[in-house]
Amino acid sequence: MRITFFAAKSYDRDSFNKIKENYPELELEYWEAELSPKTAAYVTDSEAVCAFVSSDVGGEVIKVLHDRGVKLILMRCAGFNNVDLDAATKYGIKVMRVPGYSPEAVAEHAMALAMAVNRHLHKAYVKVRENNFSLQGLVGVNFYGKTAGIIGTGRIGAAMARICHGFGMKVIAYDMYQNPDLDFVTYVDLDELLASSDLISLHCPLMDSTYHLINLETINKMKDGVILINTSRGGLVKTDDLIAGIREHKFFGVGLDVYEEETKNVFENHEDDILMHSTTARLLSFPNVIVTSHQGFFTEEALGAISETTLNNARAYIKGETAGTELN
Ligand code: NAI
Repeated sequence: MRITFFAAKSYDRDSFNKIKENYPELELEYWEAELSPKTAAYVTDSEAVCAFVSSDVGGEVIKVLHDRGVKLILMRCAGFNNVDLDAATKYGIKVMRVPGYSPEAVAEHAMALAMAVNRHLHKAYVKVRENNFSLQGLVGVNFYGKTAGIIGTGRIGAAMARICHGFGMKVIAYDMYQNPDLDFVTYVDLDELLASSDLISLHCPLMDSTYHLINLETINKMKDGVILINTSRGGLVKTDDLIAGIREHKFFGVGLDVYEEETKNVFENHEDDILMHSTTARLLSFPNVIVTSHQGFFTEEALGAISETTLNNARAYIKGETAGTELN
């Protein structure tokens, strides 16, 4: 079976090529182009396409892929809010994903963002490089003894909870399902979490029910001087309201690995740089905000696990077996 990869970067090729010989039944074809109705129309002789979290896997694309003979969409990521699953089912296309590859990779990045905004590492780095060793403006707070509020205690939220526990923080969480492995965590309702946490980290998926979970109303319920971290999905936070909260000095710091505009395809591919626009760029103007470019998953271990699960998904599909990673 031939798989056409969309938005394939050099690191994707490297990690998939490393294990390719273990899957002689699969032929991998890498395209740099992102998936869109236009590029989907060029798919030829591929029963499967492999897409990413940034890909447009909406109804129009799915219809084109169906017309090109595609039967399988392999998402090389966990999130799938960019996939029109109803359309895929309607056109008889199976969608599979990589549900968990390295929760620690994302959780460690969430803590890296929290540490960086807390201790102003982004400012300290620039200052010292300019030969300015003054401590002015760099005071942070101890995480030890403070309260971490984790929203969503699945794989990544649980890893983040363990990290915060290791820092000596009191860990509280909000989730409709209590994770039995987290006996050190106290589950509370959302309002209590917002009101009690010094550090709030978002780890729930983006769904209708979680869209703009962080808005002016929920921001107003937070403690003054809270640190907010989002490594989950941009749509969980209403950016305009976040900017209003930052302006009112609600936050000690904000760390974002994901932003709303990712899902609206407003990125402009400019050679190898990805340029950002409008509201995300406005966020960058605040000195207590750190933005990274959706790199939470980006470790060697996670890339290895992603390629292995993706190719195992393709193999299971060929054999007609259930992999447990099917979305429809
Ligand atoms: P998971 O499915 O293991 O856990 C999600 C948890 O959120 C579950 O316990 C679920 O009950 C809970 N949840 C659902 N609705 C909720 C709500 N309204 N309020 C509170 N909790 C709620 O997912 P996992 O693997 O932990 O991933 C979490 C998210 O992280 C993904 O949905 C994805 O958006 C994001 N992610 C980000 C990456 C990055 O590179 N920054 C990489 C991978 C995932």
